[in-house]
Amino acid sequence: MRVLVSGGAGYIGSVTAEVLLKSGHEVVVLDNLSRGHRAAVPTGATFAEGDVRRQDAVRQLLEDHRIECVMHFSASSLVGESMVDPGEYFGNNVVGVARLLEAMRHTGADRFIFSSTAATYGEPDEVPIREDSPVRPTNPYGESKAICERMLQWYESIHGIRFAALRYFNAAGASEEHGEDHEPETHLIPLALRAVSGEIVELQIFGRDYPTPDGTCVRDYIHVLDLADAHILALERLGDLGERFFNLGNGAGYSVLDVVQAVERVAGKPVPVKDAPRRPGDPARLVASADRARTVLGWNPQRAELDRIVGDAWAWKTRFPNGYAD
Ligand code: UFG
Repeated sequence: MRVLVSGGAGYIGSVTAEVLLKSGHEVVVLDNLSRGHRAAVPTGATFAEGDVRRQDAVRQLLEDHRIECVMHFSASSLVGESMVDPGEYFGNNVVGVARLLEAMRHTGADRFIFSSTAATYGEPDEVPIREDSPVRPTNPYGESKAICERMLQWYESIHGIRFAALRYFNAAGASEEHGEDHEPETHLIPLALRAVSGEIVELQIFGRDYPTPDGTCVRDYIHVLDLADAHILALERLGDLGERFFNLGNGAGYSVLDVVQAVERVAGKPVPVKDAPRRPGDPARLVASADRARTVLGWNPQRAELDRIVGDAWAWKTRFPNGYAD
């Protein structure tokens, strides 16, 4: 299929574009390079530099390449940042999807795979979280994605653009070629790897007084290659899916301190840490029930162990110590 990957120069987008190409699909990457890297665009993909909010240019791109499906990764995606700059999240994420959908409806692109998030659930009543749990975001990032999910439902019922919203839990790890290179970096695993390498003085532990077994936040880490596989399955089965919303996680919760220990095992060195206050907007526990993705999509994550996930992130960092170096 001919697929437009918006945000294909970013972390999850570049890995998914790589897997799409290996699965025989044609890929056009659209990225404004505000946070992505030109060098992250996989070999074999056509690259167009531009912003999803430029509706006329996007429509032209869709027509020029006779795109059949859009996979939309380009978005602002940091919980903490969204608590200080909500305008960035509504302006980039919500407006981005609105313009993209309008561009699509005049073309033959009638399939949309949306990067959604566990942050749509907020502080869940029950863990593991199922897709029918209430959507009650506790930060503007989750809210912006929840609004987009509702827009997608209207565009499907009114304009026939079929969609799947994939609610990622905590993406981590790397393929051999593509990994996580954010500046500034705020995510736990890459920061722990920087701390163990001596690139930063210490890793801050944001809160030890959560209602969790060791007092630190619990998350469900999912290998980025397993996420990519779910996208391919959603793309190939979109026509006959009875469901639209899918959690993507392993169903296993690891605390911040569990991750620190995994990094120490993988790197063979201690991670210097320092206690810090809670980070605003962080829910205590986010763990997926991914039963629906398994049964409906036929998804079967292959890289579920935390040490495998951390090990692949470490291998990529060791291979590319300066990231994409641009
Ligand atoms: N953490 C620290 N120290 C750090 C960085 C993070 O203690 O230096 C903690 C956070 O407080 C949180 C956990 O580690 O409890 C994970 O934090 P990340 O920043 O790695 O990830 P988040 O859970 O905040 O968010 C990520 C993605 C979101 C996505 C969410 C879904 O960034 O886009 O997972 O669970 F919505």
